[in-house]
Amino acid sequence: MKPRALGYLGVNAKSAADWADYATRLVGMQIAEKTGGNLALRMDDRKQRLVIEENGGDGIAYFGWEMDDADALGAFCATLDKAGVRAEHGSRALADQRRVKDLVVVTDPIGYRLEFFHGAEVSDRPFNGGRVHSGFRTGPLGLGHVVTTAERVADAVPFYRDLMGFGLSDYYYKPFEAYFFHVNPRHHSFALIETGKRSIHHMMIEHFSLDDVGQGLDLTLKEEGRLAVTLGRHCGDYMTSFYTHTPSGFMTEHGWGGQLIDPATWQASHRTEGPSLWGHERSWMSPEGKVAARELCIENANRGLRRPVQVMEGNYNLMPGACPWWDSVPGKQR
Ligand SMILES: [Fe+2]
Repeated sequence: MKPRALGYLGVNAKSAADWADYATRLVGMQIAEKTGGNLALRMDDRKQRLVIEENGGDGIAYFGWEMDDADALGAFCATLDKAGVRAEHGSRALADQRRVKDLVVVTDPIGYRLEFFHGAEVSDRPFNGGRVHSGFRTGPLGLGHVVTTAERVADAVPFYRDLMGFGLSDYYYKPFEAYFFHVNPRHHSFALIETGKRSIHHMMIEHFSLDDVGQGLDLTLKEEGRLAVTLGRHCGDYMTSFYTHTPSGFMTEHGWGGQLIDPATWQASHRTEGPSLWGHERSWMSPEGKVAARELCIENANRGLRRPVQVMEGNYNLMPGACPWWDSVPGKQR
């Protein structure tokens, strides 16, 4: 038994008020509840997906990994026990706080707090986003993905792959070492990047509509210093996205069009084309890093790297693509 989705995240924050503004007006989430310094945020029918804790910190406080049911959680705990990994049973009060039926708590080799739960509460009120948009792609895919950095990622890969049962989607070594893991058809729900220090790199939330990404970008460009990574498209999950700085020292990737994989047949591969097909200039990178990343994109362009746009029923019109002139060109790229 293994986790089936990234169910929720707890976020350390210096200011819940900053998060309230950012998460609603820019990202499009809904404030479900404010209690003390805590802020519960909704993205869909779940009572909460993100919990902001005003504790003076930054980064992510806990990862909520969803199990099928009580039996699955029990079987998973038995596996952990066999491997000598300590899993602490969460109290009734903690489960109530997380809005779940039951949970256990484990610390990963990097030091992150992982909570494995089942039975998330669903709201009886419709989702009402903080800005007009077409909703987030969650459901069985979970809330999105999180990418963390570590001093040495090799320390954590066996833990996630062999013990947690996460499937390795792919990995690369340039322009940095990175490993991407799936727990459902979303290409990755979790990734590890080697940067020399432990931190949260970004969380990704996926919109149903590409226009919601573009309109989010317009809102972002109104704010000095909010944009972290320019619009671009990833080679691995095919996500078209841009990134913003959150108030908690990591970034949000605002994405659309992530590919779905079949976990039963997927084979992990070493990718050499780098993180992005095009775009994604990273404001946080060193000048040398930016040059290297841009070179990778230009190499991709020069060899005609293309990936199919991932569309969903109802959000596209299929155009007739026949062009006798283009079709007669030898070696053309589609
Ligand atoms: Fe991402």
